[in-house]
Amino acid sequence: MTSFDLAASARGKHVFVAGGSSGINLGIGEVFARCGAKVSVCSRKADRVAAAVKALEAAGAEAWGGAADVRNYAEVEAVLKSAKEARGPIDVLISGAAGNFVAPALGMSSNAFRTVVEIDLIGTFNVARAGFEFLRKPGASFIAISAPQALHPYAYQAHVNAAKAGVDMLTKTLAVEWGPLGVRCNAIIPGPIADTEGMARLAPTEAERKLAREGTPLQRYGSKDEIGYAALFLASPLAEYITGAILPVDGGAVLPGPGRLGDAMKQAYEKAAPRNR
Ligand code: NAP
Ligand code: COA
Repeated sequence: MTSFDLAASARGKHVFVAGGSSGINLGIGEVFARCGAKVSVCSRKADRVAAAVKALEAAGAEAWGGAADVRNYAEVEAVLKSAKEARGPIDVLISGAAGNFVAPALGMSSNAFRTVVEIDLIGTFNVARAGFEFLRKPGASFIAISAPQALHPYAYQAHVNAAKAGVDMLTKTLAVEWGPLGVRCNAIIPGPIADTEGMARLAPTEAERKLAREGTPLQRYGSKDEIGYAALFLASPLAEYITGAILPVDGGAVLPGPGRLGDAMKQAYEKAAPRNR
């Protein structure tokens, strides 16, 4: 292959994004929209879905949206069926609905823990399980939106750590079961992404945002577009031999070492560096 038009590879595809009414998930939809894909979204709140459909249309998509809570299998199945009826078989199925709040395990009720596991993990199962029937097979792909909590035991994130680790293992299991059926399954682990609800909850102060930036080897937050580009690649023919991959798109944030330790390590390094030159 001498050249390849990645954007053109998405033209006319039907992309469904669960949890696609805001943030990273809507950003992914907008990247596909700008490439000429048809984009459908669902989330709990009809007004947010309607606003997302408008944003996707403004980005160039033939867009569609419906309300569904990913914890409710019947609602998920119904919204996916309607999306297929409206826009055709689904080529790219993205599961990104999630919930998060900061609380120590001892400050969480059983219901609080269950709520996040139900949205993130069981919701992902519901989207994949119900969505399979509506995929264009062979050739479709499933992409889960995971999180760094799947890889490291972050304090005050017991629910998300457990749920997203489950999302990664579920994705790998589906890759094994669905590969022979012509469906590739991968996950993206976004790093700290600017202008998102997730980071507003996890790093609400400038001091915390500074730590998150400096704990990232590339020294900055990522953008929603950068997560969209990764999804575009994973859904494209360039990735036709990739399944079961868990792809960090995070400026290196999950890597161990000084990059993750933020200010204190950085200052220690700066002090030692002149001696090492
Ligand atoms: P966000 O804007 O709050 O996105 C969450 C979306 O999920 C919203 O559209 C929300 O819409 C929907 N949702 C929540 N509960 C739902 C449910 N029960 N059923 C259906 N939809 C539901 O947050 P974000 O920060 O962009 O996060 C998006 C994804 O990226 C999540 O999977 C998150 O774990 C992952 N992530 C984010 C970051 C980051 O830097 N922000 C980093 C790593 C991973 P409704 O309220 O209308 O339901
Ligand atoms: N600390 C401890 N427990 C909390 C909490 C907090 N900050 N916030 C909610 N909970 C508990 C509630 O008290 C409740 O438990 P209880 O019944 O024992 O009292 C349980 O969590 C469920 O809360 P509820 O508000 O009924 O859930 P919901 O389904 O309406 O909303 C959330 C789900 C809590 C995850 C809500 O934050 C949400 O809708 N988030 C979506 C957006 C988001 O989180 N974006 C970032 C994605 S990374």
